[in-house]
Amino acid sequence: MVPKHIALIMDGNGRWAKSKGKPRTFGHKKGSETLKQICKDAYDLGVKYVTVYAFSTENWKRSKEEVSFLMGLLRQYLNESIKNSEENNMRVRVIGRRSDLDKDIIEAIESLEEASKEFDGLQLQIALNYGGRDEIIRGMRGVFQHLLDNDGSDQVSKHDLKLAMQELDEDKFSYYLDTVGIPDPELLIRTSGELRTSNFMLWQLAYTEFYVTDVYWPDFNRTELKKAIDAYNRRERRFGGTTK
Ligand code: IPE
Ligand code: IPE
Ligand code: MG
Repeated sequence: MVPKHIALIMDGNGRWAKSKGKPRTFGHKKGSETLKQICKDAYDLGVKYVTVYAFSTENWKRSKEEVSFLMGLLRQYLNESIKNSEENNMRVRVIGRRSDLDKDIIEAIESLEEASKEFDGLQLQIALNYGGRDEIIRGMRGVFQHLLDNDGSDQVSKHDLKLAMQELDEDKFSYYLDTVGIPDPELLIRTSGELRTSNFMLWQLAYTEFYVTDVYWPDFNRTELKKAIDAYNRRERRFGGTTK
């Protein structure tokens, strides 16, 4: 069976470039082309949702030059995506903390999300200035905001607070996450060999199967994607005791 939702940590652009004696930026450029192709391949193979890690809340720690190159690449990718999403019937959504991004990038995200919202082919989520912990904290803020908005008076009563506390459960909380309405991924692929989540989808990956390949992201292709799906099919999925 092909997983309905694949999450992808696109890692190794820098190492790929280094192995070719080129600057890291060269790897990022090639990596963005790989993403375009992988979206087509994934949909072709029967995948419905793909969520990719493009820039983490920790990636701001990189050099100013690298961060600004990555932002430039994202700008270009977002602008090209309006046409690309139409051609491929692809819906694009961006997850992560938007407020820190440049105004023109925020506008490009909003235009792309609006222009592609009816497309029912591949559902692509781009994680941009995304951190799993940050998403959970923003989710908590959303819960508090909901409480404040729902109370007509100046103060939230203890009674309402107690009720909200008792009623809060996993389903209700997930409504406040960036991935609302999107099923959890069945498969996570990380390229370039690191065995960590690097703060990606901490909530959503609770029962996701992990697949790590040593292949650097710019070299990742349809054959590698198929290998990951084959490996997934050899797993026995367990959810704490049952296979459902
Ligand atoms: C992934 O490649 C791209 C981003 C994190 C933006 P890296 O830039 O992390 O490449 P390596 O891991 O240093 O090789
Ligand atoms: C994870 O890769 C983030 C993205 C792919 C966007 P990193 O290269 O930033 O992660 P670490 O630093 O190796 O954990
Ligand atoms: Mg890396």
